Amino acid sequence: MIKNITVIGAGTMGNGIAHTFAQNNFNVNLVDISSESLDKALKNIEKNLDRMLAKEKITEEEKQNTLSNITTYTDLNDGVKEADLVVEAATENKELKLKIFSELDKTCQKHTILASNTSSISITEIASATNRENQVIGMHFMNPVPIMKLVEVIRGKLTSDEVTSNIMEMSKTLNKIPVEVNDAPGFVANRILMPMINEAIYTLHENISSVEGIDTVMILGMSHPMGPLHLADFIGLDVCLSILEVMHEGFGGKKYTPCPLLIDMVKNGKLGIKSGEGFYDYSEGPRNKKVAKQFLN
Ligand SMILES: NC(=O)c1ccc[n+]([C@@H]2O[C@H](COP(=O)([O-])OP(=O)(O)OC[C@H]3O[C@@H](n4cnc5c(N)ncnc54)[C@H](O)[C@@H]3O)[C@@H](O)[C@H]2O)c1
Repeated sequence: MIKNITVIGAGTMGNGIAHTFAQNNFNVNLVDISSESLDKALKNIEKNLDRMLAKEKITEEEKQNTLSNITTYTDLNDGVKEADLVVEAATENKELKLKIFSELDKTCQKHTILASNTSSISITEIASATNRENQVIGMHFMNPVPIMKLVEVIRGKLTSDEVTSNIMEMSKTLNKIPVEVNDAPGFVANRILMPMINEAIYTLHENISSVEGIDTVMILGMSHPMGPLHLADFIGLDVCLSILEVMHEGFGGKKYTPCPLLIDMVKNGKLGIKSGEGFYDYSEGPRNKKVAKQFLN
């Protein structure tokens, strides 16, 4: 039975994943190499719980229980000893993930299932860094994790039926709806979403319309809840670029070539909400966006 969870990486996704498991009564160890990220994550989780409390979605007792279910670590070995399931949500970088999984394989107990929240990197390749390829699986949560219902559950070539059904069932206990998909670059969600975001960036780059114009077309014209440029800021422009690069490498052709404007913005540290600026400027807070200076005519 899965009871003890370790989440690796306390960034945008890691803090949401830790929050979700803790709120559903799992014991959660949250690991990050940066103690600053861990502090920020705990503050963020508390802020999100307060928002739920104000909306009467949870009680004060549930808030306190959730917080007390989370322990933080900067040392991976200490943080994973008791884990039944590890969910890795570290930076989207293949070499880094291969290194983490090889280390996890050596440190974790034999029964521990190793999951990755990667947006695009092959689960089969990540599994090959371990000696337990049948126990490695993708658990692709959506941002913001405590709110979004979907978990894409990705089977690597060697993931066993038992591990897959175990993770599908456990995802339901988190009040999520899991969808099983096979391993391919970008899986389903990002294979469809990222070309749209990239194309939106091309329309801006080619001066077809403004930031607000492009987002308004997709919100009003397609009933999308947020425009693609705003969504890219929300996901993180560095994350979008990494996913497009993985798909470009995996499928070839022109379709997934990242727009030069996206590459430039990432080079200049404009990563979206997490850095304070992307297509929009968030200097007055993430809910108070205005178009970034460089895109004002
Ligand atoms: N941002 C999204 O909307 C989104 C959605 C779904 C999946 N993902 C995936 O989730 C993963 C994390 O993305 P994110 O947006 O949270 O990134 P992020 O940059 O916000 O956070 C990454 C965290 O990983 C930590 N880290 C780096 N190396 C580490 C190591 N060796 N051990 C422990 N921690 C380490 C960093 O310190 C940082 O806190 C990526 O694989 C990404 O593709 C992201």
